[in-house]
Amino acid sequence: MAEYQLLFLPGDGIGPEIVAATETVLNACIRKFDLDIRLEHASIGGAAIDTEGTPYPDSTRASVQQADAVLLGAVGGPKWTDPNCRPEQGLLALRKDMQVFANLRPVKPWPRLAAASPLKSEYLQGVDLLVVRELTGGIYFGEKSRTADSATDVSTYSRHEIERIVRKAFEWARQRRNKVTMVDKANVLETSRLWREVTQQVHQGEYSDVELEILLVDAAAMHLLSRPADFDVMVTENMFGDILTDEASMLAGSLGVLPSASLGDGPRGLYEPIHGSAPDIAGQNRANPIGTILSLALLFRHSLQREDIAQSIEKAVDQAVESEQVTADLKPTQPLGCKEVGEVVARGVVG
Ligand code: IPM
Ligand code: MN
Repeated sequence: MAEYQLLFLPGDGIGPEIVAATETVLNACIRKFDLDIRLEHASIGGAAIDTEGTPYPDSTRASVQQADAVLLGAVGGPKWTDPNCRPEQGLLALRKDMQVFANLRPVKPWPRLAAASPLKSEYLQGVDLLVVRELTGGIYFGEKSRTADSATDVSTYSRHEIERIVRKAFEWARQRRNKVTMVDKANVLETSRLWREVTQQVHQGEYSDVELEILLVDAAAMHLLSRPADFDVMVTENMFGDILTDEASMLAGSLGVLPSASLGDGPRGLYEPIHGSAPDIAGQNRANPIGTILSLALLFRHSLQREDIAQSIEKAVDQAVESEQVTADLKPTQPLGCKEVGEVVARGVVG
């Protein structure tokens, strides 16, 4: 048996292209570090609906159970319209199945890409934040109902779900700049009032050495643009984390560059870029693979405990960005294609 078993789920839209570019980087890592990895592929999302009639087939679930780590491209697209059989349901089922409740979304802009950000460059200096998004609870997983003229989505959080994610946030803060910002809407939502109560209790009881800041989500959305460098770890519920990280990607210059790692209690993890399937540019070799390639780096760091390989991938991405060998979202004139960026990073890894 191979030392590590990995599963790649390309999904829909640009998913197959960005995952293929990332596989080029993985192959470079295998050669360079002489790794014993068994890589499998399986279908999810719309692609799985087309071939198997369901967005998270049992065959994919079986492969997930065998894997040490899973890397996913993206799911969704205008082609799949049945509200009872959506590609996104496959992704949510996968996250729930793997029990990866903590979604880490690091945001650290490259100075070289400052011009790609809509923010003035002086705001970007020193920005280095980690959003910890709760990933398996809240309104995305609550009961839904619909009649012709009304619709309901229920949001529920238990004390246990909040405690385990805020603990993770405090732990990561201790390894960084020792500050946690908890984001809620406690002036309106009952779930947010529980988040606030639990966060303050965990802070006082176990992590009083870490600085705790609490913000309402509407204000946080503004502060993310007016003082982004002040944030270290930001922890929040599922939906707020989803929204705030698309906003935060503009600090880095493109939605295409942000990676994520989703973890539970052990080392097994799910790794995916934070962006969607971008059906408008699918199949044109224009998608930015950096968010997925950096997700592979996180996979080596968190699931395989290979910090050396993670850093080697990150360094190769830094070099590609530094030499402006990037896709059109970051550089409108003479951009590289998705595949070519994968090859540049792979060469950087081999060195
Ligand atoms: C993300 C995506 C997903 C989410 C969608 C595709 C279900 O937007 O990973 O941020 O909302 O979690
Ligand atoms: Mn999102």
